[in-house]
Amino acid sequence: MKPFTAEILDQVETLLNIGIALSGEKDHNRLLEMIVTEARRVTGADAGTLYLCEGNHLVFKIIQNETLNIFQGGKGEQINLPPVPMKEENVASWVALHRQAVNFPDVYNAQGFDFSGPKNYDKLTGYRTGSMLVVPLCNHEDEIIGVLQLINARDEKGGYKAFAPHYEKVVTSLASQAAIALTNMQFMQDIENLFRSFVEVMATAIDARTPYNANHTRRVASLCQRITAMLNQVTEGYWGVQYFDEERIEQLVMAAWLHDVGKIAVPLTVMNKSTRLEERLELVLQRLDYIAANLQIQSLQARLRGDDYCDLDDELSKVEKARALILRVNDPATVVTPEIVQELIHIKEHVYQDRSGQSRPWLTPEEVEALSVARGTLTEEERRVMEDHVQFTNRMLAKIPFTRKYKDVPYWAGIHHEHLDGKGYPMGLQGDAIPPEGRILALLDIFDALTAADRPYKKGMSPEDALRIMNYMVRDGKLDGELLAHFSASRVWEDLD
Ligand SMILES: [Fe+2]
Ligand SMILES: [Fe+2]
Repeated sequence: MKPFTAEILDQVETLLNIGIALSGEKDHNRLLEMIVTEARRVTGADAGTLYLCEGNHLVFKIIQNETLNIFQGGKGEQINLPPVPMKEENVASWVALHRQAVNFPDVYNAQGFDFSGPKNYDKLTGYRTGSMLVVPLCNHEDEIIGVLQLINARDEKGGYKAFAPHYEKVVTSLASQAAIALTNMQFMQDIENLFRSFVEVMATAIDARTPYNANHTRRVASLCQRITAMLNQVTEGYWGVQYFDEERIEQLVMAAWLHDVGKIAVPLTVMNKSTRLEERLELVLQRLDYIAANLQIQSLQARLRGDDYCDLDDELSKVEKARALILRVNDPATVVTPEIVQELIHIKEHVYQDRSGQSRPWLTPEEVEALSVARGTLTEEERRVMEDHVQFTNRMLAKIPFTRKYKDVPYWAGIHHEHLDGKGYPMGLQGDAIPPEGRILALLDIFDALTAADRPYKKGMSPEDALRIMNYMVRDGKLDGELLAHFSASRVWEDLD
């Protein structure tokens, strides 16, 4: 066996290093750029173009030309050249169609292909396209995914020479590693897109269980995207030292999409509760009608018997008063004061006889409890059931094998109701124990809850009113004041659909 020359060993090492670098690159555009840069470095080519197959065309993705100082496509920007149709006469297309490399010492003397493209380019730029090596990018399943074109192997005198024949193998090997890296990246991207779509569909479906709150999750996720971009501009204070790179933002947005998935376990009767009594109101009103009718019957019967009967009008007015109070208190806009609670207890102490002659209170203890809720519509028990959604979110997300990229999603999603004063739930985390992501989610969750026009128990507030209330929450030590100030100033909620 012939010993390896130093040059061959060097090239093998270079290829291995390139292979490692290619497989380690996580950014699609940087990977494309690296393929052209490394192929040019290995072969000494002055220029290079990378095309990817899209349908029946080759699309320009990267163009580099050292002499003309042109470097395009590395940031994902679109290259302003028309896609190349898959036709035999075009050399890049031919290479794609035949999966075979071609090597021309000088394209101006080459036969069999239409080189009007490079020649026109030369006329426009004053460049001189000379030698050309074109190789296919085939992945491990032998699918063609693109074409790499290298131009002008530089010689020692600053001119160009033909690409040495062994470079066909070297560049083909590099291209196949690149193709595998690109295919793997595409697979990972496909899996991630699938996961993300699934999460979005699931969260939207959970939101859609109730007509109230139907867009909450989507809005919080969009606000997360906007607020992080805004916070990256902040240079001072707590938020000045926080930087949200792409992965951190994606992770936070994912946490936003998943933060309320536990609401799937909250009964709709609780989710949709728009008044304090809900459908029970009808029963209470019918009961009062029955009581009033009964009073009138008893009064008539007493009169027929010639007995004395207490003042009917007085009794009926008590029923009417009770009815008016119950209707007023049933409305969640009414703040229930301790005096109102006393009145309700007083009503409960009134009794009537039902058809079987049994004494019953005008209001049951459960109805008094439901009507005595000071603010909102939920009783203590219902509020606990509602708050349990975070525990369900935690339990559900614990079952999902998140990838490393999304490893913090379950934790961040599970702390969106934690408040800095330690009075949030479920963990009662306090101050610095709540990371920036938890503070952001808590703030956006409240802002959307206050401004949403679709909550069951109230009309949507204006952003200004919501911010006023949130400022009280800052004063009470619940929300991050710096964060709220940045949020208020940026008005990132505007134009959110
Ligand atoms: Fe929540
Ligand atoms: Fe929420």
